[in-house]
Amino acid sequence: MEFEIQIAKQLLERGEVVAIPTETVYGLAANAYNQRAVSKIFKIKNRPTFDPLIVHTNSLEKIHDFVKEFPEKAYVLAQNLWPGALTLLLPKKEIIPDLVTAGLPRVAVRIPKHPLTLSLLAQLDFPLAAPSANPFGYVSPTTAQHVSQQLGNQIPFILDGGACQLGIESTIVGFENDETWIYRLGGITVETIQSLIGEVKIKPFSSADPTSPQAAGMLTKHYATHTPLMVGEIPELLAEALQQFAPHQIGILFTQHLNKDIPVENQIILPAITNFEEAAQKLFASLRYLDALNLKIIIAPRFPNQHLGKALNDRLMRASSKK
Ligand code: TXA
Ligand code: MG
Repeated sequence: MEFEIQIAKQLLERGEVVAIPTETVYGLAANAYNQRAVSKIFKIKNRPTFDPLIVHTNSLEKIHDFVKEFPEKAYVLAQNLWPGALTLLLPKKEIIPDLVTAGLPRVAVRIPKHPLTLSLLAQLDFPLAAPSANPFGYVSPTTAQHVSQQLGNQIPFILDGGACQLGIESTIVGFENDETWIYRLGGITVETIQSLIGEVKIKPFSSADPTSPQAAGMLTKHYATHTPLMVGEIPELLAEALQQFAPHQIGILFTQHLNKDIPVENQIILPAITNFEEAAQKLFASLRYLDALNLKIIIAPRFPNQHLGKALNDRLMRASSKK
């Protein structure tokens, strides 16, 4: 893979945009210090410029090049959870263009856990701004194929690192006065964060203001399929759906038992609702798969509201909220 990493490196050094693998989802990366390069990301994703980007690097030392302060609690989280699915909001230095942070005083920072991307970052003398590599508002990509299907003809290179191990985006954490806030639920659980630094607060789902999101993952409609998605009790949802649609027009995401009324290929099995890791890994790929079947409706269960179940529910609710 050294050859592929060199290709990515050279393109990024020339101010081009390259898709990179991480353990959460694929990112659409550019030199975070280069405003022109970063502006290409927004254009390719059709992303509004009020939606700030996460900056990726490979070491704590490098973060001090572009972050002013590192509060004690942030440091504890970083020490314990990086590389990993944690993004910290920290006061930015001038060197980060305002475009990256949408004019906000804090920059979102993460050290991702993927060997190819860590190796790439180690060889670059700038950090990488990278949102998820999907058109704005759509389901995030967890394979190189997902990226190439939607953005392949708009970017010169995709660094293929296989399927993402975790499959769900990072948890975004910020500090306000003496409080710690979770801005977006994600791959690192609330329980894990609290075990390290004590009480945290979670920005409520409904508090998202669509015109000025503090985190766009907070937009109520996001991560969405084109096919309407309903979340709740599968038997009830299925009975309702069958009143309106033919069986072959209905998809089921994460059912424990195959439903005999519905074609097998329209159903994604999850052996137990508490198989959170498996669900996270499969979530976005399954949504894409079902969406491509051109169904009338997809139904999905609610997870127990603990551990990764919280983030899974969050993504499903946002994917479903337009209906
Ligand atoms: O796992 C991840 O976080 C992936 C991989 C590629 O690292 N990235 C990702 O990026 O999910 P994106 O752009 O899809 O979501 C980043 C979120 C957005 O909701 C954005 O609004 C928020 O981070 N964000 C970035 N900078 C921020 C800031 N300064 N203040 C508040 N929120 C910020
Ligand atoms: Mg995204």
